[in-house]
Amino acid sequence: MAEITKNNEAGNIPRHIAIILDGNGRWAKKRGLPRNAGHLAGSETFRKIATYCKNIGVEYLTVYAFSTENWKRSEEEVGGIMKLLDKYLREAIRDMRKKGIRMKVFGDISRLSPELQKLIEETAEISKEIEGFQANICINYGGRAEIVRAAEQYANDVIMGKVEGDLTEEQFAKYMYSADIPDPDLLIRPGGEFRLSNFLLWQCAYSEFYYTDVLWPDFDEAELDKAIAVFNSRDRRFGGVKNK
Ligand code: IPE
Ligand code: IPE
Ligand code: MG
Repeated sequence: MAEITKNNEAGNIPRHIAIILDGNGRWAKKRGLPRNAGHLAGSETFRKIATYCKNIGVEYLTVYAFSTENWKRSEEEVGGIMKLLDKYLREAIRDMRKKGIRMKVFGDISRLSPELQKLIEETAEISKEIEGFQANICINYGGRAEIVRAAEQYANDVIMGKVEGDLTEEQFAKYMYSADIPDPDLLIRPGGEFRLSNFLLWQCAYSEFYYTDVLWPDFDEAELDKAIAVFNSRDRRFGGVKNK
């Protein structure tokens, strides 16, 4: 297990890592298993990687677990994912204090079952007692939906007279689910696809992208180290010119 440090063999540790948890279905298919077996394996990988991120000094881990588009899948698959979420949230409620993991859910949870909504609220309450590492789980999340929601909330605040003057990017960012946290430094997509799939459209303006063919259930600590090493080899110019 890596020591708690802001540096490891791979180099500087990004403050915020975002991951699109993709490839569960193909992982299961390769083994002749039902797709939900892939989601189960993927949820175990999430636990492992969240713990590793905390241990190496990542401050925020944001994962894409269920998109606004994923409702298109079969009832059986969606039901299986919701069941897994229920199980995961119950475990989190039991263990998060001990593990020192704060949790936040990004997304429109009103479409989830009342039970799931209650569990999510409970994790938010417990998170108030915890300091340090934060895991953000995107459920029924879509980047466009998030921006539309932000625009609606802003318009409401204007109508209520709560805000005035010209809208700035900083001000608008406060209406995102990610209001109080820095943008992702590194965005990882396992599963071999080269697309964003409606993930963190606002926040990833200057994130470094890392893609790998490794399927999410096979992703491990060494893979994360690899991604961090590649991140460290990048020259982040933010539109400027390299000084050296
Ligand atoms: C990602 O794995 C998990 C969710 C989208 C819920 P997939 O289920 O998309 O896996 P593949 O892409 O079919 O392999
Ligand atoms: C992205 O994966 C969404 C999540 C991982 C939750 P998908 O498998 O849904 O994305 P597409 O369909 O390949 O774009
Ligand atoms: Mg997929």
